[in-house]
Amino acid sequence: MKFFKFIASTLALCAVFSVQARSLDEIKKGGKIMVATEGQFAPFNYFKGTTLTGFEVEVAELAAKKMGLKIEWKTIGFDALLTGLKQDRWDLVIASHGVTEERAKAVTFTAPHYCSGGMVIAMDPAIRSAKDLGGKIVAVQTGTSYLENVQKVTTIKEMKNFPTDVDARSALTSRRVDAWVTDRFVAKEVVAKNPKAGLQLGEMVFIERIASAVAKGNQPLADAWSKALAETMADGSYAALSKKYFNEDVRCN
Ligand code: ARG
Repeated sequence: MKFFKFIASTLALCAVFSVQARSLDEIKKGGKIMVATEGQFAPFNYFKGTTLTGFEVEVAELAAKKMGLKIEWKTIGFDALLTGLKQDRWDLVIASHGVTEERAKAVTFTAPHYCSGGMVIAMDPAIRSAKDLGGKIVAVQTGTSYLENVQKVTTIKEMKNFPTDVDARSALTSRRVDAWVTDRFVAKEVVAKNPKAGLQLGEMVFIERIASAVAKGNQPLADAWSKALAETMADGSYAALSKKYFNEDVRCN
């Protein structure tokens, strides 16, 4: 008896610790997919008052609908998003992650929902390119591909990390740094919305494909998501959203 109790409790413990990603079938059965994002990266994922919205939030809603699913949204710091997949805290992450080799070791990416890249923004119009970052202090959000790519510019004086991209931007507008590297569309919107701030759009430092991620190896879920996304691209609904947010089509080609 004791032995069986031991086996039973060992099995229970294993169930607690070996969390497994929910399968596509399980998700479909429940009718609800748990999607995590950051909510501080306008115009892609952000809060309008208390409502989560943005281009990729709306794209996700379209894709989920094609799959016959409702989304239960979670918002959390950018740094915790991909690790949460491993812990099975949510089924999918959509937060403007660039598809990188490093990340692909830890998660499975879906097809990309837009293409973009890191851009230099500064107050000084002379700071425009990666080369111009030499000798300068540069702000980037922690854990991003901007950080990775700015690091490659060996001549920079210092790189400052910020928990959110909004903080990195504030560091620039308050002149605590010389430049900020962020997404090209984020940069464009900030400059357009703050015409008097004196922000200057520079050049792109690198380009990247932006995709959703699911737990490593949950290929059926990734494939179903990619298929649903392709349907939104085929039926004109993706194009309409892209036009609304950017006045251009931001899909990868
Ligand atoms: N595209 C960049 C990356 O791949 C930045 C993503 C930032 N996303 C966010 N929700 N703050 O790392």
